[in-house]
Amino acid sequence: MDIEKIRKELKKMLSSKRYVHSLATEEMAAFLAKQHNYESHKVRIASLLHDCAKDLPLDTQKDYIMRYEIVLDEIELKEPKLWHAAISQELAKRKFNIYDSEILQSIRIHPTGDKDMTSVDKIVVLSDYLEPNRNFRDNEKIKVIAMKDLNQATILVLTSKLLHVIKKGSLIHPRTIEARNDLLSIRDFANNSA
Ligand SMILES: [Fe+2]
Ligand SMILES: [Fe+2]
Repeated sequence: MDIEKIRKELKKMLSSKRYVHSLATEEMAAFLAKQHNYESHKVRIASLLHDCAKDLPLDTQKDYIMRYEIVLDEIELKEPKLWHAAISQELAKRKFNIYDSEILQSIRIHPTGDKDMTSVDKIVVLSDYLEPNRNFRDNEKIKVIAMKDLNQATILVLTSKLLHVIKKGSLIHPRTIEARNDLLSIRDFANNSA
C-alpha cells in the first residue's frame, strides 16, 4: 500500500489527535532519516502505523489478541497500555499489507525499545517522543542530539521512559532496561577504544 493510501486509511482508524501525532511522527522520522542519510520510506511507514491500534477500545484489542493469537509476554499482559504495539504490528500486516520485518519489528517494540535495535527501531522510538505535539520538557535538547547521534538520543529517551514508568508506579518492561544497557555498552566501548 502506498503512503498516501496508508494515511487515508489511518485517518479512519484514529482520533484526530492521534492522527496528528502519527503524521508528526512520520515527519520527524523522515527528518531524522535525512540527517543520517538513511532512506526514509521504511521509517515513514513504520512511524505512520506505530499507533494504528491505539484508539481501539480495550475490549476490541482483547478480541484482536485472541483472534490473531498474538503472543504477549508476562509484563505486556499486565499492562494494557502496551497491547497496541503488538496489535498495530498485526494490523500493519493484515490491513496494510506491510511484510517488511524491520518495519514490523519497530512497530512491535516502539513503547519499550529492545536490545539490538536497528536504525529504523531507534528512529521510530525517537520520533514518537520528539514530534512537536508531545511537548516533553527535554525534547529540544534530545532532538539536537538525535540529529548527530541516534544511540545517545535513544539512551536519553529510554531513560525518560523508565523514570516516567517508575513515577507512575507501573511495571517496568525488561526490554527497556536491556535496550538501554545495550546502547550504553556500545557507547562506552566506543569511548574506551577511542
Ligand atoms: Fe504507542
Ligand atoms: Fe505514538
